[in-house]
Amino acid sequence: MTQDELKNEVAKAALKYVVPETIIGVGTGSTANFFIDQLATIKSSVKGTVASSIETANRLKNHGIDVFDLNEVSEISVYIDGADESDHHLNLIKGGGGALTREKIVAAVSKQFVCIADDSKLVDVLGQFPLPIEVIPMATNYVKREIIKSIGGNPVLREEFTTDNGNLILDIHGLTIDSPKTLEGQLNNIVGVVTNGLFANRGADILLLSTQNGVNMVKP
Ligand code: A5P
Repeated sequence: MTQDELKNEVAKAALKYVVPETIIGVGTGSTANFFIDQLATIKSSVKGTVASSIETANRLKNHGIDVFDLNEVSEISVYIDGADESDHHLNLIKGGGGALTREKIVAAVSKQFVCIADDSKLVDVLGQFPLPIEVIPMATNYVKREIIKSIGGNPVLREEFTTDNGNLILDIHGLTIDSPKTLEGQLNNIVGVVTNGLFANRGADILLLSTQNGVNMVKP
């Protein structure tokens, strides 16, 4: 199977976790796009969705799936989204597509977080994928200096990219993330950081991992 076929298989497998008659959260990225296309096949079974990005909202709407503003919604049954890396405890790096902040908000509101990925995303230690940090534009160079001084790694400004929230992204290269929960908190404590792409304090509850031999379910 190609990587796209693996993504489509795991997207299909995630339909089982869609709770009928509820509002579900939908992530961003190529795997999440496969999920949106699969969700379209059962769209009448859900009350609607909350999207983690403008791109996802547009794709959902193009399929005729209702998209709610999060402020209109008090409960999301399940959040389904991809990841850039997952360790075996289901701590994640997300934000390769730059939607990390809205993804983190939707994940926080959701009762269950089902992560969908192909098996290239499972790693022993997070950090080979550059860790995205969303920053308020005026704080970019200050945040860069603070990261170099107190965290390490090499923060690089993502060129020609603005988030849905009007902010910038620094990608930190060269980290070996042994304590994801601690690092998530440390980064969020730097003034000017909106949020970072570590999903450790609220990691995934279930990882559906697509392999050449089928989709495996991983729990922390
Ligand atoms: C978007 O900001 C990201 O968090 C994506 O969920 C993540 O990058 C996974 O994307 P792919 O499914 O395209 O690999």
